[in-house]
Amino acid sequence: MDRIFSGIQPTGTPHLGNYLGAIQNWVNLQEECSSVLYSIMDMHSLTVPKEPAVLRQNILDTTAAILACGVDPKKCLLFQQSLVSEHAQLAWILGCLTNVPRLLRLPQWKTKRASQNNEGTAGLLTYPVLQAADILLYKSTHVPVGEDQVVHLELAQDIAQHFNKKYGEFFPVPKTILSANKIKSLRDPTVKMSKSDPQKLATVSIADSPDEIALKFRKAVTDFTSEVSYDPAARPGVSNLVSIHAAVTGLSIKEVLHQALGLDTAQYKMVVAESVIQKFAPIRSEIKKLQEDKSHLMKVLEDGAEKAKELAAPIYQEIRRLVGFQ
Ligand code: TYM
Repeated sequence: MDRIFSGIQPTGTPHLGNYLGAIQNWVNLQEECSSVLYSIMDMHSLTVPKEPAVLRQNILDTTAAILACGVDPKKCLLFQQSLVSEHAQLAWILGCLTNVPRLLRLPQWKTKRASQNNEGTAGLLTYPVLQAADILLYKSTHVPVGEDQVVHLELAQDIAQHFNKKYGEFFPVPKTILSANKIKSLRDPTVKMSKSDPQKLATVSIADSPDEIALKFRKAVTDFTSEVSYDPAARPGVSNLVSIHAAVTGLSIKEVLHQALGLDTAQYKMVVAESVIQKFAPIRSEIKKLQEDKSHLMKVLEDGAEKAKELAAPIYQEIRRLVGFQ
């Protein structure tokens, strides 16, 4: 049986990259598969220190946004990671099968460590092992993610194979469902759009106001050619705008380029901004509505966690037996 698993860190309201690289796919997949789990990865969030009140609020804001985007708890399990303690328990077991040099080579360790006085915590280093545990705990078969997560998925696949070799065939080796959308920063189109980008204009939140969206696109970095074309290697800035335009409208690159005929990049930026404003207007008002009812959001996460635990507990029990805890 196919089982889909994916997750998102609660960094507040998701950005355009999260939506186009992941959440949009989540909404489609919940229609296609009968066993689908999506998780708010609060334990992962602790790898970058946060005030407790901020984390608490971010968990609710992320949940409101995901629901507003169309993730439906009747069609999938939506839950908070830390409510299912088996994630941490399995991470310990899998950590004992993972070489430290393998973790030291992962790009996220190198980049995020730089922002932690070049030291970095044990949590930051072992974060991808916890991610492997998230997936394997449910014997998941498919994991929809954006490109930046592929290296973590490769680690999860290696860990699954290592476990199977040592303890006997147990975990399916999870397949990556890779989104074609790779959304770049609006200020530096050679790097991915990211919540942690210190440049305020680089990242578009899906709850930004129309004015904020228009401003960020107006200031988007392009180049000195005024014509609109698609060539990510030679023209990353304008190509990122074309990718965003195609992804939010559901049109092909060829179709959006056709629509852009005769426009210069400054005019085109406003066309893309308008398509983003239109796409997220209903989602933005739904987020606001959902944010007003905290107890409903918490109940969604708790109900989801209860059901997730029902799936996880017998699998974890079997793992305990396999490794010799009982
Ligand atoms: P996170 O929270 O950084 O991102 C959530 C999802 O959004 C995708 N994404 C992007 N896609 C395209 N362009 C971008 N600029 C962009 N930025 C983010 C990510 O690829 C991801 O799919 N480690 C994970 C969370 C996680 C997880 C898991 C995912 C924890 N355990 C198990 C899958 C399975 C993370 O930090 O994602």
